[in-house]
Amino acid sequence: MKNIVLIGFMGTGKTTVGRRLALRLGLEFIDTDAEIERVAGKTIQDIFARHGLIRFRSEEALVIKRLSLQGGRVVATGGGAVLDSKNVDSLKKNGVLVRLTAPPEVIVQRVGKRRNRPLLNHGGALLETVQRLMREREEIYGQAADFTVDTGALSKDETVERIVSFLR
Ligand code: S3P
Repeated sequence: MKNIVLIGFMGTGKTTVGRRLALRLGLEFIDTDAEIERVAGKTIQDIFARHGLIRFRSEEALVIKRLSLQGGRVVATGGGAVLDSKNVDSLKKNGVLVRLTAPPEVIVQRVGKRRNRPLLNHGGALLETVQRLMREREEIYGQAADFTVDTGALSKDETVERIVSFLR
C-alpha cells in the first residue's frame, strides 16, 4: 500500500487531519516537521534561527527521502516540502499526494495565535504574507497533488471522510 501524503500550505490542517486519518485507517502517522525536530534534537524555530532556511530544507529533504522508502503510512508534510521537485518525486514513488487548501483568511485565523512558523514571523501584515506565499506556491501545490480538498468549510472529520472516499 502507498503512503497517503498530505501536502499544502501552513494552517490547512495537515497534521491534525493526518493524525485522524491514520487512526481512521489503522495506519501509522508520521509528521515530517516532528521527524526533523526529532532527528536534529531542536525545534523548527531553533533550526531556522541558528542555521537558516537552507539548512532546514536540507534536513527536510533527508527526512522525506528516508520515509519515502516505505509505504503504508499517513504522512503530513511541512508546507514547503513540495517546493523541491526532488521531494515530490520521492514522495510520489511510494505515495498518493492529497493537497489540503483553505482560504487565506481561514489560514490567518488558524495560524495567528501561534508563533511557531518562522516564515510567517517576519513582521508586516500576516494576511498579506499568507496571500503572497500562497500565490507563489499555488501552481506547485496544484501540480504535485493527486487530489485536493478545500477544508475551509469542512470540519476535520469531514475532511478525513473526503479523503477516505477518494481512496476507495
Ligand atoms: C513551512 C511550513 C512549516 C514548517 C516550516 C516551513 C513552509 O510546516 O515546515 O516552518 O515553508 O511552508 P507546516 O505547514 O506544518 O506549518
